[in-house]
Amino acid sequence: MKSARAVAHTNIALVKYWGKRDSSPADLNLPAVGSLSLTLDRLRSETTVCPAGHDSFTLNQEPASGEVAGKVLRQLDRVWQAAGHAGPRPPCEVVSRNFLPTAAGLASSASGFAALTLAAAAAFDHDPGRPALSALARRGSGSAARSLWGGFVRLERGVAADGSDCRAYPLHPQAHWDVRLLIVHTERGPKAIGSTAGMQRSRDTSPYYGPWVDTSEADLAAAEAALAARDLAVLGDIVEHSCFKMHACMMASRPPIVYWRGATLDVVHAVWRLRAEGLQGYVTSDAGPHVKVLCLSGQADDLAARLRDVPGVHAVDLVGPGPDPTVEVLA
Ligand code: ADP
Ligand code: DP6
Ligand code: CO
Repeated sequence: MKSARAVAHTNIALVKYWGKRDSSPADLNLPAVGSLSLTLDRLRSETTVCPAGHDSFTLNQEPASGEVAGKVLRQLDRVWQAAGHAGPRPPCEVVSRNFLPTAAGLASSASGFAALTLAAAAAFDHDPGRPALSALARRGSGSAARSLWGGFVRLERGVAADGSDCRAYPLHPQAHWDVRLLIVHTERGPKAIGSTAGMQRSRDTSPYYGPWVDTSEADLAAAEAALAARDLAVLGDIVEHSCFKMHACMMASRPPIVYWRGATLDVVHAVWRLRAEGLQGYVTSDAGPHVKVLCLSGQADDLAARLRDVPGVHAVDLVGPGPDPTVEVLA
């Protein structure tokens, strides 16, 4: 094997993924719904995979163990197996750094598993093309399948039992539309329940889970059309609907899954108030307390300044559409 390094950017779902297909073996990680995302500038993971005497994983300069390391090593095994090499996988040293908060609802698993999959594939001389690598990244984390491309990306739900058609594809490049995403930070620290466990609980206990799954394809089709037409008002309406429908499904789980804090709702109402005043921002939020606001670049600074004044807001970051991932084989 070789040494390789990859950089992948995280993404924000505009139409959300929440839930695994009923028939999905855990190892395939097949989503119950398709999703549509925007890859983000700056927020990224940088991961190196090198041959070593024994397996190790270092995340953000700290040695990782337990489930965090276990997930990474399982993903290395999958990439090795997909590469079709004879013999056992060689031991690897994996070092990754997140240029975004980890496990805080800002999709570190997306950039993390995209970068890991790309670096491992290059290290193991496996080049099946980005679509197949997207399906492979999905097995590490569903949202990671979407970080194989910059710009606007759609993850297909797929129908094949082996998940081979459950992969993302690029809809529009980074330059398609000069939108911005404001990331409004309301709380520090990791989330109480990870996405994988939260999805399982919703599927098992939420009475809204079925309707959530059944209505998702229509949201995807409408969002895709609005995105192609660069119609922010129409897209924004679907973005908010998908977000609140997902959170309603989470909240109706038993025990309830509530990622929001008081400040989360205060920001949501502030965005709606500002919209009535002519600042066109649309909210979304993932498995965490932060609010993300989709807007046009021309209004981003004004909106950010106004949202920084909302009590409970720690910081507002401004990010634009992000690029494709990059991979290099090291000497
Ligand atoms: P998030 O909102 O950050 O995506 P998740 O619960 O979906 O939260 O995933 C967080 C988990 O993803 C971490 O606990 C860790 O297991 C894994 N992860 C995060 N960053 C990386 C990385 N750079 N490389 C490998 N795994 C990572
Ligand atoms: C709320 O991709 O983190 O951010 O596949 O179990 O790793 P696993 O889940 P993950 O889920 C992301 C959920 C979400 C919505 C989204 O990004 O589509
Ligand atoms: Co995640």
